[in-house]
Parts: sequence; structure tokens; C-alpha cells
Amino acid sequence: MDHSPQLANELDLSAYWLPFTANRQFKATPRLFAAAEGVWYTGVDGRRVLDGSAGMWCVNAGHGRPEITRAVEQQLARLDYAPAFQMAHPLEFELATRLAAMAPTGLDRIFFTNSGSESVDTALKIALAYHRARGEGHRTRLIGRERAYHGVGFGGMSVGGMVANRRTFGPMLPGVDHLPHTHDLQRNAFAKGQPDHGAELADGLERIIGTHGDTIAAVIVEPVSGSAGVLVPPKGYLERLRKICDAHGILLILDEVITGFGRLGAPFAGQYFGVTADLMTTAKGLTNAAIPMGAVFAQRKVHDAIMQGPEHVIELFHGYTYSGHPAACAAAMATLDIYESEALFERAAGLAPVFEQALHSLRGSPHIVDIRNIGLMGAVELQPREDGPGKRGYEVFLQCLASGLYARTTGDIIAFSPPLTIKEDEISYAAEKLGAALRQVA
Ligand SMILES: Cc1ncc(COP(=O)(O)O)c(C=O)c1O
Repeated sequence: MDHSPQLANELDLSAYWLPFTANRQFKATPRLFAAAEGVWYTGVDGRRVLDGSAGMWCVNAGHGRPEITRAVEQQLARLDYAPAFQMAHPLEFELATRLAAMAPTGLDRIFFTNSGSESVDTALKIALAYHRARGEGHRTRLIGRERAYHGVGFGGMSVGGMVANRRTFGPMLPGVDHLPHTHDLQRNAFAKGQPDHGAELADGLERIIGTHGDTIAAVIVEPVSGSAGVLVPPKGYLERLRKICDAHGILLILDEVITGFGRLGAPFAGQYFGVTADLMTTAKGLTNAAIPMGAVFAQRKVHDAIMQGPEHVIELFHGYTYSGHPAACAAAMATLDIYESEALFERAAGLAPVFEQALHSLRGSPHIVDIRNIGLMGAVELQPREDGPGKRGYEVFLQCLASGLYARTTGDIIAFSPPLTIKEDEISYAAEKLGAALRQVA
């Protein structure tokens, strides 16, 4: 069967139900990529489009890496699948050992999943299991944050704080509270890197503790909120949260699904900010998105507390058919090789000031109310139009795409997170295209 790319008008678009997409609008004017190499996509019409978003914050080493393709191909030929429960294969151990070595201090016990959502639900369950194993089974409350995105499982959705992702789906998990978000345009607009104001918002946790006492199991936050539009933590905020958690026996989960694997110019945001989590969730950049995979990193104390009871009894009744899938492990190993041999995390750190300068050069362009950035993540926030929030953002997205730039939008926020392999002139190209788009939309 020929699987070569087809033009949209040659395809039957009716059967496929697209995720997180306005399906009817999309099918009226479909947008299809057919190929990708480096930092460039090629549309089915043959036009080249710069990938300003590393796919969806995940293709950190750039597209079409032959090393990953080869590793996956060879692994599938040798061992396509091994049962994930009560059996294993060598690559899982090798990968876990390697991940443990690059992790923030002490996060050296690794549980494999297949996505960010699964990593989040896994981490929340491990947090509950940890307290229960230590005789503190009354700690069942989970604390998220407003405007957070932790995927779409019932756990992640419940601790998440994006209203559109929640309102359709009923009462969520019981026993969940939310910290206030840290987005403060009045005090922090156009901040470069971490904004100055808002560390005190971490004290929201003290207030929740004031109501719920010692029934809180864990707090989960994204070190930098990604999907909500790149909300950078105020100076001192994460440190304060860590301190409060420590003082009250609460586990801190850092959701590094986006920030993990070099996005900020360090392996993980925990290292960048100097704040170590008890549990860390990852996915995306782990395999350069070539094969779905996620991993939860646990502090040894968390892991060891759960490894108790009779040795023949399963310690944690949790896992997935595809946990540690051989093809995913092979993709991850090849991806880590690339990160290392091309020093891509250091490269991201070196490019961050160039990226910052390019993004902030747009200040003064029409509609902009904020520009913010950290590492190789950045966002431009637009004034919503009176005829509907999100409409201007969507038009800018379309205009950029038409002119050769793909960037993700969330409402009226345009977010950038290019592959860490992007070159300086390609960063300028992205800024120019966005500037031109802003001048063209109403
Ligand atoms: C911080 C964070 N957590 C979890 C997820 C969910 O990941 P996935 O879409 O792989 O389930 C995402 C996805 O963007 C994310 O940004």
C-alpha cells in the first residue's frame, strides 16, 4: 500500500477525530504536515515551515534524526516487545541507570510510562502509596495550581487548572485544591527570565494547610507552566514552595514534561532553579518524541518506603502494558546520545540570550501586552479582541503558518519552544514572521 503523502482534498477527513482541535473548523481548512527535517516541516503542498514549537515542546534534538530511526529499527528487529509485568529486558535497566545519573540530586528511581499524562497520574499514585506505606494513609489530598496543565487523565485533569479542560467532565477527583497561579501582568509584564514579583504566592499553600492540616499528600506544579502560555515562576517562588512542603511533610512533584531534557539549558528545571523535587514527571523530550514514552523519577526515600512487606507481594499495583517498551527505550537511548554528543543542553543555554533578545525586539508591535521568556521557552501575549477571546491569537497562528512559521497558540498567547538545534538566523526568521503577522491581523 502506498503511504506517500496526499493532499488534503484527496483524503476522506470524516473518520479521524482530532484531539484538542476545533474539528469542524479544521476539516473546513485542513493543515497537514508531510515531512520534517531539522527545524523545518514540509506541508503536503511542499511548502517549508519553521518549527517554532519543537512539535509540541518535544522534538528537542530536531526532526528526522537518523540515529533514532536506526536504533528503533534495530531494536524492533531484535526484540519487538517484552511483557512489562514480572518480566523485563536489558535496555530498561540501562536507560533507567542513565536517567538516574543525569537527574537532579537523589531522583534515581525510575518508573516508565507512555506519556506525560500517565507520568502525572503515576506520580500522584506513588505519592499516595508513599504516605500509606509510612503509616500516614490520612494524607490523601492533592494540591495543584490554577492555570496548570498536567495532561488529561482524571488525576492530571483534577490537579490541573485550565477551566476549558475541566468543565465538561464532572466533579473530578475529590480532595483536590489549587494554589493561585503566578501570572501577574500588572507587576511583571515584559519581564526577562524570572519575574521579580510573586514569591509570596507560594504562601497560598500555608493557607490550604491551615484548612486541611496534615491530610495533604503532595503538591504538583510545573516549574514553568507551558501549555497555559509560558508562565515563568517568580524569583524565590519555587524555593518557598519547597520549604513549606518540607516543613509540613508534603511531597513536592515537579512536572517537567516540558522543561525536562534541556528546555531551560539544564537537563531539568529542578537543576536550573536549584529546587529538588520528591517526584519528577517527564515525557516528550525523553525520546525526542519519535516514540511515545514518559518516565517518573522518584527520590530514593520515596521508592524505598514503598519497597516493603513480604517480598513475593507486588509493592505498587500500577503499570502499563507498554511501560519500558523496547522501541521507546531504544529511541530514548539514541536521543540521550544526541543530547550528549552535540551538547544540546549547553547549546540551549548559549542560545537563550539570543532568543530573549529576538522575542523582546517585538515589543511595540501591535496588540502585544506581554513578552516573557526563560531558556528556550517564550511567549507573546496579545490583547484579546472584543469579538471573542482567542480569535486574534488564532488569526496570528494562521498568518504565521501561511508565511512559513509554526508556533503554538493558547487563546491569545503565542508560545515558542524551538528545537534546541535551532540556529540564530532561524530565531530571527521566527521573530520577523511573527512581527509581520501581528501587523497584518486586526
Ligand atoms: C506539564 C505537562 N504535563 C503533562 C502533559 C501531558 O502530556 P501528554 O500529552 O504526553 O499526556 C503535558 C503536555 O503538554 C505537559 O505540558
